[in-house]
Amino acid sequence: MTPIDALLPDWIVRDAQGQLVADGVPLATIARDFGTPADLYSRRAIEETHAGFVTALAGRNALLCFAVKANASLAVIDIFRRLGAGFDIVSGGELERVLAVGASADRIVFSGVGKSRADIARALEVGVRCFNVESEAELDRVNEIAGSLGRRAPISLRVNPDVDAATHPYISTGLKRNKFGIAHDRALAVYQHAASLPHVAIVGIDCHIGSQITELSPFLAALDKLLELVDRLDEAGIHLKHIDLGGGLGIRYEDETPPTPRQLMDALFDRLERWRPGRLPEIVFEFGRALVGNAGVLLTTVEYLKSNGDHHFAIVDAAMTELMRPTLYQSWHGVVPAGPADPSAPTRNYDVVGPVCESGDWLARERALALSPGDLVLILAAGAYAAQMGSNYNSRPLPPELLVTDGRVKVVRPRQTVRDLFAAERTLDQAG
Ligand code: LLP
Repeated sequence: MTPIDALLPDWIVRDAQGQLVADGVPLATIARDFGTPADLYSRRAIEETHAGFVTALAGRNALLCFAVKANASLAVIDIFRRLGAGFDIVSGGELERVLAVGASADRIVFSGVGKSRADIARALEVGVRCFNVESEAELDRVNEIAGSLGRRAPISLRVNPDVDAATHPYISTGLKRNKFGIAHDRALAVYQHAASLPHVAIVGIDCHIGSQITELSPFLAALDKLLELVDRLDEAGIHLKHIDLGGGLGIRYEDETPPTPRQLMDALFDRLERWRPGRLPEIVFEFGRALVGNAGVLLTTVEYLKSNGDHHFAIVDAAMTELMRPTLYQSWHGVVPAGPADPSAPTRNYDVVGPVCESGDWLARERALALSPGDLVLILAAGAYAAQMGSNYNSRPLPPELLVTDGRVKVVRPRQTVRDLFAAERTLDQAG
């Protein structure tokens, strides 16, 4: 195995001819049949990753939710529904997606700092399990809308524990300077206010401190802060049915060594069991990246190679429109050629960039690769926050989303056409 292949997820292997094969299907065949760029997900990888969490939670009173924002493909949501997962959503749009696959609303928790009136009303109407309320103003709004609909809204307060998740500042959410949640020192007062409202029912407490967390300590620090609060709430006569610890578990992109689900759960439940032996409330989780991040790759083709002085560029047909993470968070994604290199191709330190007219349109920098135009290349760990953060900038149609399952490839979203992009638009005359 070459060092670069060590980055591959276990559902992609190199065959004797040096060609990458995804769950039994050669990537070159997939690229030929469906074109590039294309997102490819593995159903088996998702199921096996989910099973790892289920095993880690066995015998524990827990609800494992999938944070839909990481990958909102209907097919992916459907896989999680079949596996019995719950769902964490942050918008009315995500709510409709989850309902569209037939998931039950009572397994949906609704997070997000800016829930609109329409979204709250719809979530009440279908009967979501819980609103993770992020501010006093939202609490009052939920109470008012529930009252007008003759409902009682199940709520949990998202507490901002002021814990440093030690991750990229854009994906850190649990610090006072972040917009998320209710300040830890205000939480008791806000719970007391909630208890006085006629149309809400307090059911839980919630936190989410950030994403791509690769250490146990931030999770445990947040848990401690929450448990201390739950004790104070009990003293105040406010008793909770669940504690939602959010998501945030990291994955390996390059050389990170995040805790395994088992290590994380053992550490959390060890602390929880010592807190209230044998009488724990339900523990809810909202994982996104850790469930799907390594179950997806982005397939792309080298269009051109060029050098500006001693700076070498591989211009590929995927761009920041397919994977925004590098330019937004300076994130590192593995880049692996799908077939053997042409023996005449020199190895160079390439910046892998897209066709979009932005200097920020890059996918990887300074990678030693032997490339030729036309080569098929994989961008790894693109199962979470890739397609979901895609855009049509430069009038680029969204790529297809493909799912490999049982040795065959299903098109779970066809490639957009250029016509699709402006089919609903109107020229001046058409707009009347
Ligand atoms: N729950 C809440 C309330 C969240 O805000 C998030 C993620 C999650 C759960 C799931 O977190 P995860 O388990 O996936 O870390 N676009 C960024 C990540 C943003 C995460 C936002 N919130 C990225 O590409 O790294």
